[in-house]
Amino acid sequence: MEQKDEKNCNSEEEGERQGPKTFLGIFTREKFIILCVVIGLMALLLIIILTSVFLITQSDASVNMEMEPFPSDGDMLDFLLQIGEIQEKDGLYATWYHAANNKSEMNKALNSDVMILEADINVKGYNTANETNIAIMAHPPDIYSDNTLEEWLDAVLKSKKGIKLDFKSINAVELSLDLLRVKNQTGINRPVWINADILPGPNVPVFWPVINASEFFELIQLKFPDVTISPGWKVLYLSIFPNVTYTRSMVEEMYTIVRHLPQKITFPVHALMAKNGWPHLSWLLSQSPRFSLTLWQGKENPTVNDLLFIRDNSNPLRIYYDIYEPVLSQFKEAAKLRNRPRRFYPGGDIIDYFRPVNNDGLNIQWDTVTDKDDLLYLLKDSQGGMLVIPVISSEGQPNIPIIQGSKPELPLQDCLELILASKKSWGIYLRIKSQNQLSLTLELLRQAYDRDLLHHPTWVNMDIAHGTFYIQDYVTGEEFLRTIDQIFPYVTLAPGWPKEVLDEGYKPELVEDMVQLFQGAWQDVSLQLHAETLYRTVTGCRSLLHAQSRFSMTLEHRAEDRDLNTWTASLMAIRALNRQRSFYNMPNMYREHIANLPENQDHTALTKTLQNDS
Ligand SMILES: *[C@@H]1O[C@H](CO)[C@@H](O)[C@H](O)[C@H]1NC(C)=O
Ligand SMILES: *[C@@H]1O[C@H](CO)[C@@H](O)[C@H](O)[C@H]1NC(C)=O
Ligand SMILES: *[C@@H]1O[C@H](CO)[C@@H](O)[C@H](O)[C@H]1NC(C)=O
Ligand SMILES: *[C@@H]1O[C@H](CO)[C@@H](O)[C@H](O)[C@H]1NC(C)=O
Ligand SMILES: *[C@@H]1O[C@H](CO)[C@@H](O)[C@H](O)[C@H]1NC(C)=O
Repeated sequence: MEQKDEKNCNSEEEGERQGPKTFLGIFTREKFIILCVVIGLMALLLIIILTSVFLITQSDASVNMEMEPFPSDGDMLDFLLQIGEIQEKDGLYATWYHAANNKSEMNKALNSDVMILEADINVKGYNTANETNIAIMAHPPDIYSDNTLEEWLDAVLKSKKGIKLDFKSINAVELSLDLLRVKNQTGINRPVWINADILPGPNVPVFWPVINASEFFELIQLKFPDVTISPGWKVLYLSIFPNVTYTRSMVEEMYTIVRHLPQKITFPVHALMAKNGWPHLSWLLSQSPRFSLTLWQGKENPTVNDLLFIRDNSNPLRIYYDIYEPVLSQFKEAAKLRNRPRRFYPGGDIIDYFRPVNNDGLNIQWDTVTDKDDLLYLLKDSQGGMLVIPVISSEGQPNIPIIQGSKPELPLQDCLELILASKKSWGIYLRIKSQNQLSLTLELLRQAYDRDLLHHPTWVNMDIAHGTFYIQDYVTGEEFLRTIDQIFPYVTLAPGWPKEVLDEGYKPELVEDMVQLFQGAWQDVSLQLHAETLYRTVTGCRSLLHAQSRFSMTLEHRAEDRDLNTWTASLMAIRALNRQRSFYNMPNMYREHIANLPENQDHTALTKTLQNDS
């Protein structure tokens, strides 16, 4: 039996090999077996290595080991740049998934190429007998969901997507922050934004329930401060009231309650209300480099033009666009077009508009329009700049504003149309003589703005009466402000003092009353100064320097005025303080003269004048 077996065995082996005791004519049977074992072991080893490498790669994606560390209170654009989702820091490129709440929506979002997930958090069974302390992903009125926050975080933290959590009830906040704290122990590694509507906003009555801001902020500081806070206004967009928007007081109230928070802050703003509210929203943005805006929308789409307006007047790093398709793509395409005209906010800063060399106001050109031929010549031959337009009433028809001194009369309306049709960069400086002309001029500006034509910095200048410089027959400061606010407020205010009060120059009481009058205005204000009057007092000059922290200064000088050197010292003092905030309404030869004055005398001149005085 044994023999037979061996034989069978042998014969089988013989079928595989030709030589009896050797394999391939080299190996003995024993050696071959050892070789087989070695090869087998090596193959096994290889399989083990490959499998474990594969598993590690897999678990990298799922346990997040390949996510580089990133602080949860870090900047969203920095994060998207770090993970390679965007190539440049620009809020335009960040993309959002709205209401990624229940499992199917969440998974849709996770499987999409969207970069940031926005989701709503409530408490399971909120406001019923069955209220729990489980945070769930649901938008009111839903109080149940197939997804808890914990499940949501576990899924989302395996991805590379940013997080924005929108709290719909204060009861959900503490639970959720506790959960974030736990998850943070194994690494969140992406920005977390925490949103809640904490103030009543446009079209929402003051008694409407909102999240209690002080409780909300306190919980954040206490439980999980490493976030970006997104404090919003509760808003209702009503298409029958398309012009209702964020008011100055809403924005100021928000600023008051968030200004002391240490976190980065992004304010969610309804996209359809952003343009009308822009003066206040841009004021808010200017209050801190930590602030940004996130535009969001409901069912109605914003227009591409309104979005372009926001983009053209803001820093691309500081606006996010949580906007739906197809408008978002149309907007992105339009935003990237080269040489498209900028939709400038007419009340915006002329340094931002003209971008003069060195951001120096001295490098902005000013010209005065005298009649139609002169205007056409300027529009054709000049490089662009501020156009000073003196406005008076037409001789025959007092209700038609015309350009002072023009013969034949050039109506202001025609003048504006010629300027608005030009492709060059023009600022519009309206020098207005009477209350009546003020209203008529503002009406024309309003019409141009409503026709989407006025994308130019627009200044309204008048000599006004107030307090110590009250002079009859001048429009009062209050009336000036009220008229502008009522008819067309999107301008820079450019008030001057009546010439009758300037015999002794810009005396401190004159300056103080002017400052007090405009202190509360939300518009940009530029005080209009006659350069040749500056030398008359030095104390006045000092008050002006003081006022410059709030207001810009425009120095005017005309050819017929006293020669330049007498007022050089005061002028250079004003210039030395802030070159972005001092402007020079004067012919080019004077601007050149100032540019050539030796710089290092600025401060000595100032110091000397001020010391001599005290
Ligand atoms: C999840 O949410 C979406 C959008 O609100 C809804 O259409 C869908 O029916 C929900 N799915 C489940 C399972 O609740
Ligand atoms: C609370 O839960 C009970 C038991 O599941 C249910 O019968 C009841 O309708 C729930 N109450 C509310 C207010 O949802
Ligand atoms: C917010 O909560 C605080 C503390 O609980 C309370 O004192 C305050 O009155 C609340 N504010 C509002 C507007 O309800
Ligand atoms: C979250 O984790 C990071 C990294 O370990 C740590 O520096 C940070 O203090 C944690 N934050 C909180 C609020 O626990
Ligand atoms: C809203 O503003 C536009 C443009 O200023 C104006 O034409 C329109 O009449 C206003 N609509 C309402 C309802 O006030």
